[in-house]
Amino acid sequence: MFRYAVVRRPARSLVSGLTSSPHLGTPDYEKALRQHDDYIRALEACGLSVTVLEALEEYPDSCFVEDTAFCLPDRAVLTNPGASSRKGEVEDMERALRSFYTPDRIFRIRAPGTLEGGDILRAGGEVFVGLSDRTNQEGAIQFLNLLRDWGIPGQPVPVTGVLHLKTGLSFLEGGRLLVTEEFAEYPPFRDFEKIPVPEAEAYAANCLWVNGNVLVPAGFPGIRTALEDLGYPVLSVDTSEFRKIDGGLTCLSLRF
Ligand code: GLY
Repeated sequence: MFRYAVVRRPARSLVSGLTSSPHLGTPDYEKALRQHDDYIRALEACGLSVTVLEALEEYPDSCFVEDTAFCLPDRAVLTNPGASSRKGEVEDMERALRSFYTPDRIFRIRAPGTLEGGDILRAGGEVFVGLSDRTNQEGAIQFLNLLRDWGIPGQPVPVTGVLHLKTGLSFLEGGRLLVTEEFAEYPPFRDFEKIPVPEAEAYAANCLWVNGNVLVPAGFPGIRTALEDLGYPVLSVDTSEFRKIDGGLTCLSLRF
């Protein structure tokens, strides 16, 4: 169960966020703020105490806080984002995390290692680390070594065709994975029950399990129905403005 979430208000510079989907248009800042408010309310409805950090105008992608840290209840790892425009976000996140952890409980991924939280999938007691354009082998090894020291099993998995590992799949408590076609046959995931995500709803592969509920992006009725049929209480949250810059439900928060 999670107790806390940390989010960061979208900056006006959000309109210049990194994107692989320019055809979706430029985010509407005011609408993004409203969607962010709704996202916070959804996390609170799931029982989380939400810390809202101030916007960082110099970092257009900084509302995607998940990429800057990995948080457990008693310790955290600050990442080193692979996107050069995002590296500076980590310093401010370190200040924020000092409210939750003593300095000796905050660890770091160091260059030349790169790691972004979107590539970290916690699935039951195990952690998978995506090797993507943003997370390199060195960063994954540093992170997996920390996990090993803490008795947490983990392994790297290749990511191609999507930004982050969690762009293409989500873990739902109960041993289930929501997966796009790309990940459906991956041997590392052979022991999970898989819920397939059709190509037309691929964006909804990034759902967020929070304390028994599942946040689902609005506008993807097939996935919503599939989850409801499995008995999950579903909260629909519109993330259309974040989608325009490759953002989804998981990357908008840290949960621990
Ligand atoms: N726009 C989110 C990212 O590329 O990190």
